[in-house]
This record gives sequence, structure tokens and C-alpha cells, in this order.
Amino acid sequence: MGHSAAVWDHRAAIEMTEDWNGIQQVLLRNPRGASARVSLHGGHVISWRNDRGEELLFTSSKALFKPPKAIRGGILVCFPQFGNCDSLEQHGFARNKIWTIDDNPPPLHPNDSLGKSFIDLLLKPSEEDMKCWPHSFEFRLRVSLAADGNLTLISRIRNINGKPFSFSFAYHSYLSVSDISEVRIEGLETLDYLDNLRQRERFTEQGDAITFEYEIDRVYLHSPNFVAVLDHERKRTYVIKKEGLPDVVVWNPWEKRSKAMVDFGDEEYQQMLCVDGAAVEKPIILKPGEEWTGRLELAVVPSSYHSEDLDRHRS
Ligand code: BG6
Repeated sequence: MGHSAAVWDHRAAIEMTEDWNGIQQVLLRNPRGASARVSLHGGHVISWRNDRGEELLFTSSKALFKPPKAIRGGILVCFPQFGNCDSLEQHGFARNKIWTIDDNPPPLHPNDSLGKSFIDLLLKPSEEDMKCWPHSFEFRLRVSLAADGNLTLISRIRNINGKPFSFSFAYHSYLSVSDISEVRIEGLETLDYLDNLRQRERFTEQGDAITFEYEIDRVYLHSPNFVAVLDHERKRTYVIKKEGLPDVVVWNPWEKRSKAMVDFGDEEYQQMLCVDGAAVEKPIILKPGEEWTGRLELAVVPSSYHSEDLDRHRS
């Protein structure tokens, strides 16, 4: 069978399985052996592996794969709120719902399909959701794996209400790192951020790349559309490319908070870092019939990749 991008049949690259709760999972593969696994519980990407089979996302060894609790790790879709501002549950209900497979999604750009293996998912509010968030919407999520192993998530949220609604959003992404003290983020220097550990007070980041020595929970505002997470020990860099998502949330629970989470190992904060493409500070407002799109693309490149390369990407 030919594996060139032109003849790659995305349906042949998909396998359906079930987890031990009987919830469907979708396994996406690319011709070089990279893979991604998506659970219909939350539309949640629970695994992303490169062509050597190495896992690139962190999932806690204590994660509970049992709805309605969200899975601790992978990439979670936070909607219709990120955080815990009003009567809604923390980070919204989308991550706790069972999504369906969308057999006939409205078309995306051909580049979003060609040579990729992908799955389209759909979430519509249940009667119970409408009680706590009385707005009708259609949320379409495409997860795709490209021939180069890059992982892309495209969220399209449409207002099918008679009146406007607003929401905040994040792709809460748990990256797997060798050792948090060896990691730095480039692309957020000099930005303003809201500190979740200080009642969302606003501060300005200094000029240096961000490194980690204690608990951090921040929303960086108006960030560039490329951010890099460099892991010295593993000699690899995550390149995060986002569109429609002005903010970046950075979270590491560190020691004390890790111990307080039942579904997280005491020492596991050393092996993870959440860097989320998000829209938090200014809610997205959709009028009736309007649609919003938020895209996130994750790539992993060798660490010989420097910030100058990132600058080239940006231009
Ligand atoms: C982070 C938030 O992104 O997610 C933190 O900023 C929160 O405040 C963390 O604790 C994990 O949230 P949850 O609901 O998945 O435990």
C-alpha cells in the first residue's frame, strides 16, 4: 500500500477501541508509526507518541479513567469556562461529557485533511448542561495527526441560540518533561500575566525565559502565536502554535499541591508541565449563528532548535 500523502486514506489510519468502562477511544496513526489516542470521554487526547513510540504527553499514574471525573493528563478541552469563576464546574463541563463521532462535519480547509489521519467529534448540550449554562451550541472538535507527527486540535463552536453567549476556553495540555528543573519556556518573556495564586492579580514577566522552582499558575496575556518549551535533558523542544487563542496558561502544582490531589502522584510534578493555548482574559462572544475557531498545533523538534528558529517561524 502506498503511504505518500496523496494516497493516504485517513479512515484506514483509524482504529476504534474501548476502555475498561466501555467508552470508545479512537487511535490515529500516521505512515511513520506516530500515533494519537482520543477518548470520547471529554474529546480528550490521552496519548500522543512519536515515530519511536515515545509518549509526548504526561498522564498521571493515579489518573482515574472514570466519568464524570476528568482524566489527569493528556490534553483536556476546557469549555465553557476555564477556571472556576461562576456556578459552572471548574474548567467547564465539556471535559467530563461523552462526545459523539461527527460523521458529516462542515468542511474545513483541504490542508486540514490532506495526508492526515483525523477524527471529528461533536458535543451538544444535554438538558442537564442547559440547566447550569442555558445556551445552545454545537462544538466540533477535529483531532489530527500529520505525516510529520504533528498533532492538531481544531475547535469550532457555533451559537445555535436565539441570543448571544460568551465563554472562556483552554486546551489544557500536560506535556511530558524529563525533569521540571531542566525545562524552560520561550516566547512569554516581558508579557503581562494574571497570577491565579494571587487572586488573578496582574504582573509583568521579566525579560528571561521562564524556569521552574516553585508552584506556578499563571495566565500570560496576548502571547505570540508560537511558544517553545525546551527540555534540556531529553534534548527536545515542544513548539506550540496557536490561532484564535490569545492567552497561554502555565501550570505546575509543585510539591505541596501535588500531595493534595488524589489523582496525581506526590512526585509527578517533576515530570509534567501544563502549557495551554487559551482564551481566558477576554471571553469570546458569539452572536446567534456565529462560529468561533481555536486551533492548537503541537510539534516536537530536537533541542538544537533555537529561539532564532522560533523567530523564523513567527515571521
Ligand atoms: C490549571 C489551573 O490550569 O489547572 C489550576 O490554572 C488548576 O488552578 C489546574 O488547579 C488543574 O485543574 P483540575 O480541575 O484539572 O484539577
